[in-house]
Amino acid sequence: MTKLADIGLIGLAVMGENLVLNMESKGYTVAVYNRTVEKVDKFIKGRGAGKNFIGAHSIKELCASLEKPRKVMMLVKAGQPVDDFIDLIIPHLEEGDIIIDGGNSHFPDTIRRTKYVESKGLLYIGTGVSGGEEGALKGPSMMPGGSPAAWPAVKDIFQSVAAKVEDGSPCCDWVGEDGAGHFVKMVHNGIEYGDMQIICEAYQLMKEMLGMSSDEMHEVFKEWNKGDLDSYLIEITRDILGYKEDGEALVEKILDTAGQKGTGKWTGVSALDLGIPLTLIGESVFARCLSAQKDLRVEASKVIEGPKVKFEGDKAQMINDLKDALFGAKIISYAQGYNLMMEAAKEYNWNLNYGGIALMWRGGCIIRSVFLADIKKAFDKNPTLANLLLDPYFKGKVEKAQAGWRRVCATALSYGIPVPALTSALCYFDGFRSERLPANLLQAQRDYFGAHTYERIDKPRGEFFHTNWTGRGGDTASTTYDV
Ligand code: 6PG
Repeated sequence: MTKLADIGLIGLAVMGENLVLNMESKGYTVAVYNRTVEKVDKFIKGRGAGKNFIGAHSIKELCASLEKPRKVMMLVKAGQPVDDFIDLIIPHLEEGDIIIDGGNSHFPDTIRRTKYVESKGLLYIGTGVSGGEEGALKGPSMMPGGSPAAWPAVKDIFQSVAAKVEDGSPCCDWVGEDGAGHFVKMVHNGIEYGDMQIICEAYQLMKEMLGMSSDEMHEVFKEWNKGDLDSYLIEITRDILGYKEDGEALVEKILDTAGQKGTGKWTGVSALDLGIPLTLIGESVFARCLSAQKDLRVEASKVIEGPKVKFEGDKAQMINDLKDALFGAKIISYAQGYNLMMEAAKEYNWNLNYGGIALMWRGGCIIRSVFLADIKKAFDKNPTLANLLLDPYFKGKVEKAQAGWRRVCATALSYGIPVPALTSALCYFDGFRSERLPANLLQAQRDYFGAHTYERIDKPRGEFFHTNWTGRGGDTASTTYDV
């Protein structure tokens, strides 16, 4: 009898193809299926030739070629196709078999699908897979969640294909129940948006305010990649700035309108739903939206004037300040992202391991960086740390970075160069470290026009007061409730 496969995969697009090659290289036999079945034959004769793959021409054939408990992984477009495939797979599975979704699914869908698949006596995993094409082949970061009983059956496969950090630990571990894995992947993507945006803001300042060439910027990013900012996104920015087409930097020929597939937006929406100030990521999503209004911006640029100033400061100092601004803002972004995960854990009953998440992001994924090792240390030291800014290491770093970061924001604003992520992060920092904010006035306004009541500093919390501010209104207060 021919050997059965350890796992089956549906969806031989870029990610699927590379992930199965990775699995096979670790000693697993993988059955593969694709809706356009010619792709299966092409793969088996091409990149899969001579390797331990079983080509399947139907879902029935795919499921029949699997070792029990069967593990069927989908790497298909997020949304309806995932639901459609689940319904096509279910009739070919038996109790205890596992369906895995490795796409960028929205976590509420994964919560719903976990319940649905479990109601059929099967198990479900929704896993984030990050690292793009190269990561899938050489070692992605994987963030699985779903039915806890499914984890022991896939653990070895997932951890052996995942990226490893210096000490050999895999960038993959169980995240939590139902949608937890896809939630953490969503926050990863939001942080990815934020990291990319602050890098872009630094680039614009270097280019437009300091008049630097792409070669000069390439050198700066090369330096930055050796210190605190050492990360995949700084590294690829260095390479992009050094990339030439016909002797000129290709980046300058690319149209300035950003695309987005929605995971950053989901992160922002989730923050609004849970009431978490996720300002840097929010601004990063909006910055992409503004960039996409290209025609309107071109029109506006012809009629609206901004300040006309020439930079006369110390260029080297400003480059140094920019490094501090990036680092300070990055700390805020992660502090905000972690706060979102903490609130979601309460809301959705997940027991998230924050140090473990930092380890999963430490290698393989798009936001991988040396910085994540320090986040892991912070949560290992204090697993109930309420905000990264309260960790002594990060508190010290951000306090040190703030002078340069403030100079960057102030200078950018006076030059009329937009730095929404860098400035909103700084405002969050100042708000977070403020004992008193002007919300007392805001409460007074709410009470003035709508009798929404307020609490007093000279009375215990939870006691609400209403004032008849004009003498015209009555004494009836509206009910107090918070969304
Ligand atoms: C990853 C990435 C990936 C994402 C792209 C594109 O972790 O490998 O996050 O999952 O799809 O980054 O995202 P946008 O099109 O929204 O920029």
